Amino acid sequence: MRVLLYTGKGGVGKTTAAAGTATLAALRGLRTLVLSTDAAHSLADTFEVPIGSGPTEVDDNLFVMQVDAQRRFEASWGEIQGYLLSVLDAAGVDPIAAEELTVLPGAEEILALLEVRDQARSGEWDVLVVDCAPTAETLRLLALPEALSWYMERVFPAERRLVRALRPVLTRAAGVPMPQDHVFDAVERLHADLDEVRAVLTGPDASVRLVLTPESVVVAEARRSLTTLSLYGYRVDGVVANRIFPSAGADAWRRQWVAAQSAILDEVSASFAPLAIWQSPYRSCEPVGVEELAAFGVSMYGAADPFAVSEGRPPVRLRRTDDGVHLVLDLPLAVREDVDLARHGEEIVVTVGSYRRVLALPQALRKCVVRGARLDDGALVVRFSQPQPEPQPGPELQESAT
Ligand SMILES: Nc1ncnc2c1ncn2[C@@H]1O[C@H](COP(=O)(O)OP(=O)(O)OP(=O)(O)O)[C@@H](O)[C@H]1O
Ligand SMILES: [Mg+2]
Repeated sequence: MRVLLYTGKGGVGKTTAAAGTATLAALRGLRTLVLSTDAAHSLADTFEVPIGSGPTEVDDNLFVMQVDAQRRFEASWGEIQGYLLSVLDAAGVDPIAAEELTVLPGAEEILALLEVRDQARSGEWDVLVVDCAPTAETLRLLALPEALSWYMERVFPAERRLVRALRPVLTRAAGVPMPQDHVFDAVERLHADLDEVRAVLTGPDASVRLVLTPESVVVAEARRSLTTLSLYGYRVDGVVANRIFPSAGADAWRRQWVAAQSAILDEVSASFAPLAIWQSPYRSCEPVGVEELAAFGVSMYGAADPFAVSEGRPPVRLRRTDDGVHLVLDLPLAVREDVDLARHGEEIVVTVGSYRRVLALPQALRKCVVRGARLDDGALVVRFSQPQPEPQPGPELQESAT
């Protein structure tokens, strides 16, 4: 099963590209579901049909779904939120303010992605197309379980045992209620859920496509998205350049636009190579309804097969060399000044600008010493010494990418 995610800046055509791709898949006889993580009901508008919270058939092999994020929110986050509310209540915070404080930013959207995992597991679909919210912020948030895994494996169970043993004393001493077992259960469940979502979305059958329009600001953001999505292990395999002016029959106004777009498209090709760049013309009307969307899909991909699994290496990989082991992390378009690397015990922390990924080292590397790191051809290469027989004592190692 193929999982295709479409993301990009606001208004560039994510929903249209996702819907057009899904329509094309269905026409090729693939059982297809397209769903949106966006709270706006734009898929219903795009297909011009009412859509329910379950898969709604809009054409042969083509199903559309609007995720009921509120229901998801209550099921997954409700108990944790309930506990936080009781703490804030004990601390004397006004209940309305408390309610606002306990709403995790982006939570609804993250939880909508749980639906993607469920649908991926259902075995019903050949192609699952996801219309993501702007800027891919949510996809970055999915790094949370990975970043917390050390805590969840080592500290959380002990903390849970401790709280269970000392709950009455702690509650009296702290003056706020200590979490009950079901709250710990909910935290564990949410952690595991999010980890599974990330596994589906970063798996070998999943690809992210960046949608952009040929405007400098939009392209700059798409470049940053490529770097950060790669940092978190997502496989970006193509770029949709949407709203390209056709050049035929040009008057002065159009000539100028065509020239400006063409200059930016050259920049897009140079930036994103070797990714596929699919160009989609500015159409004379809004592409809505199955027929228009199919035409949109055909003109966007031309002869290319957007459903083929893209060849490619895993975004994080190990390379053995004569003098040790290299850990290679793809970071296309990253610049050296923005990249930083630190080792903390069995993890390395890679920072690119304001984004950070905590990577648990594979077993084989845990006892190795970091010898150095450099950015090489769009990838961060971290050099480790040969595995040592004894654990390495001594202070934590702090390194900068060179
Ligand atoms: N190539 C195109 N030619 C003409 N109209 C287009 C084209 N692509 C998109 N549109 C229209 O532009 C509008 C915005 O497109 P769309 O809703 O797909 O963007 P979006 O990136 O999903 O926006 P949002 O960030 O609000 O979710 C829609 O009205 C859509 O029909
Ligand atoms: Mg949209």
